Amino acid sequence: MVRVLFVCLGNICRSPMAEAVFRDLVTKEGLEHKIEVDSAGTGGWHIGNLPHEGTRELLTKRNISIEGMKARQIADDDLDEFQYIIAMDAQNLGDLHRMAGRRNTGYIGRLLDFVPDSRVEDVPDPYFTDNFDEVYELVESGTKRLLEFIRHREKL
Ligand code: 4NP
Repeated sequence: MVRVLFVCLGNICRSPMAEAVFRDLVTKEGLEHKIEVDSAGTGGWHIGNLPHEGTRELLTKRNISIEGMKARQIADDDLDEFQYIIAMDAQNLGDLHRMAGRRNTGYIGRLLDFVPDSRVEDVPDPYFTDNFDEVYELVESGTKRLLEFIRHREKL
């Protein structure tokens, strides 16, 4: 099983959106028994909460399931247990690298690094911008390319 973890700051806006959109894509490609998807936040303020209303509305509108999703904070073991850890922005990425230290981890990178023609490198935080549509557009292109990358690398 290939395990993929999306990481943002609060785990209520961006990483749950990436988790849900990526899982939907994985299922549509018939890979749900080969790729497992999860998300977590570097911060712990929203532990146990549902995704943000803006993320819920957007996903529901597009018939993408949010069933069972609850915010959690990233744990040290996650760095050993997930082969792909995908940050939403440079701050998340820095926090992940600090947590990983000199450990031998799986792939740690930023979502929009998979979109070389993207106009931004970080997924802007809609908790502050309130622009969930923009997040969806970036997450949609990032997750598509990420899945291509993983399929190629894992020979799936
Ligand atoms: P997210 O957005 O990292 O995309 O889930 C945030 C949600 C909550 C907070 C910050 C960012 N917060 O400071 O509570």
